[in-house]
Amino acid sequence: MSASTVPVGVSAAAVDATKKGERVPEPCIVVIFGASGDLTKRKLLPALYHLDQSGLLPKDFAVVGVARRDLSATFGPDMKEGILKGGGVEENDPKLKPFMDRISYFATEFDDDAGFDKLKAHLAELDGKFNTKGNRLFYLAVAPEFFADITRRLGKHGMASPEAGDKHWVRVIIEKPFGTDLESARKLNDEINDVLAEDQIFRIDHYLGKETVQNILVFRFGNGIFEPVWNRNFIDHVEITAAESIGIEGRGPFYEKAGAVRDVLQNHVMEVLSFVAMEPPDSFEAEAVRTEKLKVWRAIEGIPVNNTVRGQYGPGKVDGKDVVGYRQEDRVSPTSSTETFAAIRLGIENWRWAGVPFYLRAGKRLAKRVTEVTIVFKQPPLHLFKSNSSEDNIAPNIIKMRIQPDEGISLQFGAKVPGPTTNLAQVNMAFSYADAFGKSSANGYERLLLDAMLGDATLFAHRDGVEATWALFTPILEAWAKVEAKHFPNYAAGTEGPECADELLAKDDRKWEKL
Ligand code: BG6
Repeated sequence: MSASTVPVGVSAAAVDATKKGERVPEPCIVVIFGASGDLTKRKLLPALYHLDQSGLLPKDFAVVGVARRDLSATFGPDMKEGILKGGGVEENDPKLKPFMDRISYFATEFDDDAGFDKLKAHLAELDGKFNTKGNRLFYLAVAPEFFADITRRLGKHGMASPEAGDKHWVRVIIEKPFGTDLESARKLNDEINDVLAEDQIFRIDHYLGKETVQNILVFRFGNGIFEPVWNRNFIDHVEITAAESIGIEGRGPFYEKAGAVRDVLQNHVMEVLSFVAMEPPDSFEAEAVRTEKLKVWRAIEGIPVNNTVRGQYGPGKVDGKDVVGYRQEDRVSPTSSTETFAAIRLGIENWRWAGVPFYLRAGKRLAKRVTEVTIVFKQPPLHLFKSNSSEDNIAPNIIKMRIQPDEGISLQFGAKVPGPTTNLAQVNMAFSYADAFGKSSANGYERLLLDAMLGDATLFAHRDGVEATWALFTPILEAWAKVEAKHFPNYAAGTEGPECADELLAKDDRKWEKL
């Protein structure tokens, strides 16, 4: 498109975006509480900048970072560094300066009424300067103990809901962890719902922003050939692995209270599970998708504690380097019982999945970073051919959905090995995101920030869903808390995890996929 055809005040990128059917949000201010934290610099600002580069932010837009310390002198340069490091941006990028000019910093204690009044005035001033029309997206990137307080104060100072007759909108994104068990999640939901309507609340799980996670739904419901076999008649079992090779990265105090279940299994892995197992929704709208996800979680039968195992890493080697054990990490108790690995077996009691075991595992300091869904299909009814690998058992067909890294999908099947005998070998048909679409610089936050600005909650957690997943994991956490983990540490850093995880599958005569 030539510049002359672009309407005044609208960027060429925005016009291109609109032509592609992408929606551009209404003018607004994004207000990030906890802006001095790592998330803002590493993820949120680079994501907002990429959106702007792609013409997906409104022309009338501003960002305010709020935190307790006075960082007004360093905030701008610090955020710029984050954007440049975030990838795909050059220092001399012509869009960078105009974007940076829209960022401001505001210091206040989170319990300071006078500070909140001043923040309100600051936002009103920005409305005047940038024509942001009173629309607000608050992002609570703070420690969870501040979620309710900040929300309450936004309410008290007239920032949580549009005044009667006003057309503008107010939305609040809340980071994880959302509660630490069922009771705390319910309490937090009550406290937040006291101030905000459910459709103003956007509980974020960055896994839902990942292209490969969204693609699970596209793979299943955007194609005709997979869904007919996506059920107990054809599928033997399902495995979901979220393995990380990193440790706790200096987050000792946080991780001591969290552990693998609260940190990853209850949220990221359960979100992935719901996409793998849900029924086709009536539409790709928030209500329809959330309803189907909820049905999956509610159909999960209680998970007996003997279908769960936990582990903690000891010293070992990762990528050829010696690393300390969890108990030797900074600000971790030398006798800690926090699990850095958890695996469970669960069943979904509905018509599609009855009798199909789902094995889930998540852990830190494992041999590799890999997040993957493995769908293992049943054997053919008769074995006519011999396999190369074993005399009497043909390897099953397997669909692997690689969420990260090396994003892609593969289908494993048997093929005849060339030669005068009829022997089978396993081969792969593979799709790689990078090969098909090129490398993407998008982090999950781009999509989620954009959706929140558009008011689309499809990829955000709902109150009922959060409580349903906590209802499943709370009894496990309670049972574990009662029994000292005497066997910790039970896996060396850099390995496949604890032996008890292998035993969990061995009981069913199965094995985990190798990392
Ligand atoms: C976060 C957890 O939510 O997810 C971290 O707190 C974990 O402990 C991270 O490392 C994993 O995210 P990703 O996108 O790197 O898989």
